[in-house]
Amino acid sequence: MVHRHIIYTKFSAWRFKIKDACGSYLWDDKGKQYIDFTSGWNVTNLGWNRPEIAEAVSSQVMKNTYASMWFCDDLQEKYASALHHVLPKELDSCSRVTGGVEANEHAMKLARAYTGRKKILGFYETYHGNNLSMLEVGYRKEWLTSISSDNSDYIHLEYPNIYRTDLNETEVLHDFEKRLEAVLENEDVAAVFAESGIISGWGSAYVAPTGFLTVVRRLTEKYGTLLILDEVGTGFSRTGKLFGMKHENIVPDIVTFAKGMSNGVAPIGAMVTKEKIAEVADPANLQSTFGWLPISCAAALETLKIHEKEKIWERVQKTGHYMMGELKKHLQDHPNVGDIRGMGMILGLDFVKDKKTKQKYPELTEKIVLHAWKKGLHLVCDHESVIQLMPPLTIEKEVLDKGIKVLVNVIKDLRV
Ligand SMILES: Cc1ncc(COP(=O)(O)O)c(C=O)c1O
Repeated sequence: MVHRHIIYTKFSAWRFKIKDACGSYLWDDKGKQYIDFTSGWNVTNLGWNRPEIAEAVSSQVMKNTYASMWFCDDLQEKYASALHHVLPKELDSCSRVTGGVEANEHAMKLARAYTGRKKILGFYETYHGNNLSMLEVGYRKEWLTSISSDNSDYIHLEYPNIYRTDLNETEVLHDFEKRLEAVLENEDVAAVFAESGIISGWGSAYVAPTGFLTVVRRLTEKYGTLLILDEVGTGFSRTGKLFGMKHENIVPDIVTFAKGMSNGVAPIGAMVTKEKIAEVADPANLQSTFGWLPISCAAALETLKIHEKEKIWERVQKTGHYMMGELKKHLQDHPNVGDIRGMGMILGLDFVKDKKTKQKYPELTEKIVLHAWKKGLHLVCDHESVIQLMPPLTIEKEVLDKGIKVLVNVIKDLRV
């Protein structure tokens, strides 16, 4: 009999059945153990199945599980205050959503309602979520040719990445500034969508020059465009600060969060903005039936507590620095490793056919992911040339070393 999966596997990159997970380890249904260098793609950042978070949720389940959009559960208010407390004080108004794409959709609607403009500027080959509008914002041709309505309200710029260019970092920034200003000076763009200096979403881990956020903030302010900072991937300590915006101390008009917010225990996202912008929210329709379930808030509150109590971002700076050093020590001279880059604990290994041309090498990249998996190391790649390394932020040194050893050996042993 032909076995048919009820969950259609081609909808996602399903590699194995997960049976158990704890800390930085996963186990499949045959009992095989894997070291996790993905954190479920940047979600279970405090380690899989943290008991404190599970306990917070289970005690909330016994109290109240739902608050519809006409109510406010105490825990929602408590979480909003806790989040506000760690953000710049101007960011004081929150919408309650279930995840990243919804937070970004809320942000886009609000920016249009506030500015009265329709155009949205994003960067090619970035990712802000899986609905049509967000796919249009982070434009990637192959994803959109058959489903896009060719809406000219979306404008795109090349991301100022400092690897695939012949310019130095200062020149990249200057060139970017000119390109951005040429678009914004028409004064018809409602918002720019950006991440905090690294592309986490699409997986390329392209790093922008230092000063990127400062330039985007200055020019958006100058031309009456809102800055929407997507911190779905960079938020909650991943880059070595509690939030990526702290690297250049800028305050966006709107910031969005999801992913690591509740450590994968319950769905939650947030769009946070300034009061004067939130005041126009009515025409933007910012409800969400399942936004901020009390159980999700319980998980998010406990997650934030752990970040603060353990100063996770400081640990990330140290571990990220160590990882970068180890990878450079072992792989810098490898003929197919074109670049080792990243911020905090999002690191990218960029595989190339040769270092001069920097031609991408997807066949090798995918082969490495597969071989590492066979050897018990779970990795993800961007299906082009980059393996993105995002271990749990709390990974123990000996587990990290074991994982790096597997990775280095697989890379050294493989040729396509
Ligand atoms: C930077 C970024 N923004 C937004 C999203 C969308 O979040 P969600 O999958 O929760 O809708 C993602 C998801 O990968 C992301 O990486």
